[in-house]
Amino acid sequence: MTKKILIANELPDEARMIVPSDYQVDYNPSDVPMSKADFVARLADRDGLICHIISTVDDDVIAAAPGLEVIANVAVGFNNIDVPAARRRGIVVTNTPDVLTETTADFAWALLMAAARRIVEADQYARSGQWSAWKWNLLWGADVHGKTLGVIGFGRIGRAVARRAQGFGMRVLYYDTTPADLPTERDVHASRVDFDTLLRDSDFVTLHTLLSPETRHLINETALREMKRTAILVNASRGPVVDEAALVRALTESWIAGAGLDVFEDEPKIHPGLLPLKNVVLAPHIASASRDTRLAMATLAVRNCIAVLGGKPPITPVP
Ligand code: DGY
Repeated sequence: MTKKILIANELPDEARMIVPSDYQVDYNPSDVPMSKADFVARLADRDGLICHIISTVDDDVIAAAPGLEVIANVAVGFNNIDVPAARRRGIVVTNTPDVLTETTADFAWALLMAAARRIVEADQYARSGQWSAWKWNLLWGADVHGKTLGVIGFGRIGRAVARRAQGFGMRVLYYDTTPADLPTERDVHASRVDFDTLLRDSDFVTLHTLLSPETRHLINETALREMKRTAILVNASRGPVVDEAALVRALTESWIAGAGLDVFEDEPKIHPGLLPLKNVVLAPHIASASRDTRLAMATLAVRNCIAVLGGKPPITPVP
């Protein structure tokens, strides 16, 4: 029987081209989320869904599509999908791990470096015409090499971030509920510590955990107050892992020195208290946004969808 899929958001031609020609495809070539009513109506008779994180696939949406067999998210994170509701109905949910690991780790480092060495301020200063002479004390930042990096969430991306720290001669601490095996710890020269030790001892704290009830506001006022006053926080995971209101106070009142953020609690809104602050570098959720990686994510999502609809195991089901 002809398979019917909904591609709920913009997807590159290269990925759409691998959808078998006998599939019936409803494609929404937009990166504006559909209204819930539209989404429900267009999904109702579909066997498969391919979507981005901007599509909220909640229990109502899933219930309105009785023939749905697979939800293929074009992201490694899947907090936009009610996975238990999908599983209750026998629907497979897939994500796109691995293909974005290195690119996301690169970007976490870009944020870390930018915040430590005040790259955004320097750029603004240089292009604004304020630069009239070399100055001894201009835009002093923090050293990165030889410092301590604390990685919260030691999965693929956390480990890739840790691996890069070797090039900077850093000591690496990590916190995760599951310990890594010894060869992995040795490979990236990382030691597992408890949460409070990581906060207290790290010069840079970088977040790479999934969003779950346990990790929502993991970095709250108490955690921020435990960090060094010279510390820099990096978040390229999910916005709600950080209590943004508490972070604004931490940055304003110098509980910590700075932050680099790619994700926010209520995207695309950014807490208004962050906007005027010079000690925070802000990015619009682009950590995985290199051309190659975004193509690989899109292609993997399509392949996941086709696999399931073809009666095969998904390539990368969500854990
Ligand atoms: C992911 O893959 O989860 C990213 O945040 C989406 O770009």
